[in-house]
Amino acid sequence: MSGLFITLEGPEGAGKSTNREYLAELLMQAGIEVVLTREPGGTPLAERIRELLLAPDSEVMAVDTELLLMFAARAQHLAGVIRPALARGAVVLCDRFTDATYAYQGGGRGVAYERIAILEQFVQGDLRPDLTLVFDLPVEVGLARAAARGKLDRFEQEQQSFFEAVRQTYLARAAQAPERYRVLDAAQPLSQVQADLAALCPTLLGRVRG
Ligand SMILES: Nc1ncnc2c1ncn2[C@@H]1O[C@H](COP(=O)(O)OP(=O)(O)OP(=O)(O)O)[C@@H](O)[C@H]1O
Ligand SMILES: [Mg+2]
Repeated sequence: MSGLFITLEGPEGAGKSTNREYLAELLMQAGIEVVLTREPGGTPLAERIRELLLAPDSEVMAVDTELLLMFAARAQHLAGVIRPALARGAVVLCDRFTDATYAYQGGGRGVAYERIAILEQFVQGDLRPDLTLVFDLPVEVGLARAAARGKLDRFEQEQQSFFEAVRQTYLARAAQAPERYRVLDAAQPLSQVQADLAALCPTLLGRVRG
């Protein structure tokens, strides 16, 4: 058996977490085992790495340190949660994954995509998401939603140009492999985003059961 690996991507405040819950409900109503998880994090050790990555600190984190911590957390998450769940036949709904590394460390910080691809292969082997939902919206709309939530983390404190690069990287990756990505207009009212997700569900269910 092999389940279905779905990742949710997009900038801060795009609605990944909100819509992950909604999609999980739709799938669970259909009697499917759903595993909800997130990156960086997803296991106790990986969540500790997440804290290192997100906490603002007076010591500037080197770009390679950030990149390697992301993949260290990912290795733990794959071993402890994602691979076992897929082996059971579950649907894994993961809030951010390696596309976020391309978008933030690649597009945002300027790490060459080829270097990220080497680590991707090293840590994941051939495992890639079956489907990646990209929640796309103008940068300022997402930042306003994130700011309304309170204190900003180390990434949320970046400049607007950083988030523009993040957004463009997601869109470029989606355009290069349209069969693996679905771009959703996350600036719409939540009810409309959810209607778009519900419309996607029959296809997803077909792939789980197929
Ligand atoms: N389509 C929408 N319209 C208006 N508000 C929305 C919409 N989607 C989500 N929100 C609200 O925006 C805020 C951010 O949503 P959410 O936490 O799901 O985003 P996120 O992508 O998970 O952000 P982060 O990357 O920071 O975790 C929440 O308060 C949520 O209720
Ligand atoms: Mg979230």
